[in-house]
Amino acid sequence: MALSTGYHRVRTAVFISGTGSNLKSLIKFSKSKKSPISVNFIISNNPKAKGLNYAKKFKIKKTVLNFQNKILSENKLLSILKKNNIEMICLAGFMKILSKNFIKNFKGKILNIHPSLLPKYKGLNTHEKALINKEKYSGCTVHFVNSRLDSGKIILQKKVKISENETVESLAKKILVQEHKLYPKAILKIFNL
Ligand code: GAR
Repeated sequence: MALSTGYHRVRTAVFISGTGSNLKSLIKFSKSKKSPISVNFIISNNPKAKGLNYAKKFKIKKTVLNFQNKILSENKLLSILKKNNIEMICLAGFMKILSKNFIKNFKGKILNIHPSLLPKYKGLNTHEKALINKEKYSGCTVHFVNSRLDSGKIILQKKVKISENETVESLAKKILVQEHKLYPKAILKIFNL
């Protein structure tokens, strides 16, 4: 991948739609000595996203774009990201699908975290699907983003055992704990650290 740490931390934007617990874990990681990235921008499509509070708390710039007109929102977004010298994007619970044109502008530089063992259970309601199919394991995946949904090259996965009385909520919680560890690990991996 055409990312290199050189002597600076790669300027990263994190895209969210909700709670932002993965955002928080990425911010924490970015402040550690070993991190090859800095979190310089937070983008949300949802003005009520709880995760936006981390912008104030950690003094990180933020922008909300409603994505009602996708082309307009993406064009605005691209200009904001370019102006702020953003080099890499981490999707962290971002529930909008980015267009081919947007992705082309950050080719090989957009990562996503997904709460299933891809290629199983792309899209929404992953935990429900895993339970309905009586899976013994589920988990999470960090992958590169390409123009097909949840289909880019896998960087790292973590398996989580599904217990007998598992519910959607308990499984989501268990997997989320692993997501917070997996995303930083995947970033270290793509920088060969
Ligand atoms: C996470 O479980 C993430 O994997 C999932 O949304 C949650 C966001 O939580 N993402 C997707 O389902 C993307 N298709 P967070 O806002 O607390 O990080």
